[in-house]
Amino acid sequence: MNDTKYTIVFQPSGLRGKVDAGSTILNAARELGVSLESVCGGKGACGKCKVRIEEGEYRKYGIKSSVAATTTVDEVNSKYLSKQQLKQNYRLACQTKIVGDVVVFVPEESRKGQQVVRKEATARKIKLNPAVKKYYVELKPATLDDTTGDFERLAAALKSKYELTNLVLDYPVLLKLQNTVRQGKWNVTVSVWQDCEIVDVEAGEIKQSYGLAVDIGTTTVAGYLCELNTGNILATESMMNPQVAYGEDVMSRIGYATKEKDGLKKLNDAIIKGLNQIIRDITKRTGIKQDNIIDMAVVGNTCIHHLFLKIDPQYLGKAPFPPAIHHSVNVKARDLGLNIGDGAYVHVLPNEAGFVGADNVGVLIAEEPYKQDKMLLIIDIGTNGELILGNRNKLMSSSCATGPAFEGAEIRHGMRAAAGAIEKLKIERGTFDVEFKVIGNDKWNTEDKNIGARGICGSGIFDAAAQMFLTGLIDKSGRINMKIKSPRLRFDEGGIAEFVIAWAKETAINHDIVICQKDIRAIQLAKSAMYSGAKIMMDKMGVKKIDKVILAGAFGSYIDKASAATIGLFPDCGIGCVQAVGNAAGDGARIALLNKNKRDEADIWARRVEYVELTLEPNFNKYFTKALAFPHAEDKFPSLAGLLPEM
Ligand code: FES
Repeated sequence: MNDTKYTIVFQPSGLRGKVDAGSTILNAARELGVSLESVCGGKGACGKCKVRIEEGEYRKYGIKSSVAATTTVDEVNSKYLSKQQLKQNYRLACQTKIVGDVVVFVPEESRKGQQVVRKEATARKIKLNPAVKKYYVELKPATLDDTTGDFERLAAALKSKYELTNLVLDYPVLLKLQNTVRQGKWNVTVSVWQDCEIVDVEAGEIKQSYGLAVDIGTTTVAGYLCELNTGNILATESMMNPQVAYGEDVMSRIGYATKEKDGLKKLNDAIIKGLNQIIRDITKRTGIKQDNIIDMAVVGNTCIHHLFLKIDPQYLGKAPFPPAIHHSVNVKARDLGLNIGDGAYVHVLPNEAGFVGADNVGVLIAEEPYKQDKMLLIIDIGTNGELILGNRNKLMSSSCATGPAFEGAEIRHGMRAAAGAIEKLKIERGTFDVEFKVIGNDKWNTEDKNIGARGICGSGIFDAAAQMFLTGLIDKSGRINMKIKSPRLRFDEGGIAEFVIAWAKETAINHDIVICQKDIRAIQLAKSAMYSGAKIMMDKMGVKKIDKVILAGAFGSYIDKASAATIGLFPDCGIGCVQAVGNAAGDGARIALLNKNKRDEADIWARRVEYVELTLEPNFNKYFTKALAFPHAEDKFPSLAGLLPEM
């Protein structure tokens, strides 16, 4: 890279600016805030960052644009772009460098849809014992006969009224103590963290106390503003994780943090900025002052945990994958740059091992498998799949890379759960007609001729695989049966079999939405990883049958249980024994915010749960190969009898 800069203009947004010669179009889009998909984080492995280089003179911008103003990696482009698209100057933005002034068109399908963030809190009974409690005291005013310092006066009053001893005072509280005491006419309310540190002081008697529970997912972030005395959720705010712009999955973010200049800082800034936005929005909506948020609890997987705390994540990316810390962390919000109460702490739940981090611990304390007799399998399907198996006798956990396919990446017309994504579908036996629904529309395609599908998201992908299997469109091995006569079945220009889910006229992207043979393969790889993980843990624990499957994670609430069981996402259990519990990780953050005893429980169980590193398991490959079949090459599924096709 040299000092030369070139003008780049993105259309249709019109966003433009000067970028360094040799920057990729994807990096230019990131710098200029252009919405452009980059599911694989710019590795040339997803094909979602498709753009068109415009040719011609653009007087308005004072530039001449030409494909010659770019250089690209042909082999990678031709993996994802048809010959015709290449001729029309379509390129992958992450593989194309800028070597001259250029105008770039971002087609509809490459623009990031606003993801529908599905992280509603679930109704749970939570025992209240917050880490921060408020205490009201009436102090004796200072006199010439009693010149005790304000803090000592306060400490003595707290000792005599509440038996609080050995309290320390946080520095910002010290700075405002004198004025606050006098403003309240010697009557004040103090907020005490863990019965040991005064983290706030307010004039007069204040009863309400506020805290924020935060679930930082790889893709989405949710904040729950709670009243600490009642446990009530006053408001929920969510957003896409702003780090998505630097890589969709944890590995690409680790790569960005360790290889790019200021990578860790950029990723950390992005999430802190995002959280401050949530804090701003949530307080504005409720009329509560940001300063009055006096405690915060956070969950996230190990990589997210490190990036949030600005810890170098490089060692998480290589064997033996140790985190910087297992134990929970308490850090001042101000040290992280979070705009809540000056003295407030942020409690970050503990990590287990590998990528199984504080989010999984959140699930643990929410679902409490360690208090149950039944053998539970908890599946948290996020961008990374996490599994917990066990009961009060023993617990195991593991994680596997399932996310990309289930969340729409690696799938030809896959997309996130955004407006226009096919989220539900049925295929009719015999005719192979497809009925589908898209996010943001209550009607089926058969009822709404202008349904405008844009792609297919995770829950739709589950349905597509299950329905294609049940109707014989794919066999047990996952091969598309091209002997079936249907206009929906065909080969693409590269000779790959595909099935049309939505005709071009039913879409907003002007071409058919298909599921192709490669997509089925990607689904098989993802579901097989999940199934094999469960089987390996069952073997290790000597468990023959699971009593209950819990689908945690917001995504788990939207997938069809029957579709998940049909494709063999988990060993046979009976659809009636499958329960979706919503965003259990977020609930775990809320529980930790509202009950300090659960923080201790989290630290204990994070160390007690036995982590299984699946990639090191000698049987993993054997299990994985067998679990590729629908629903499995050997295992029986008696509870699906009558539903599955005879093989
Ligand atoms: Fe370019 Fe994935 S191929 S971001």
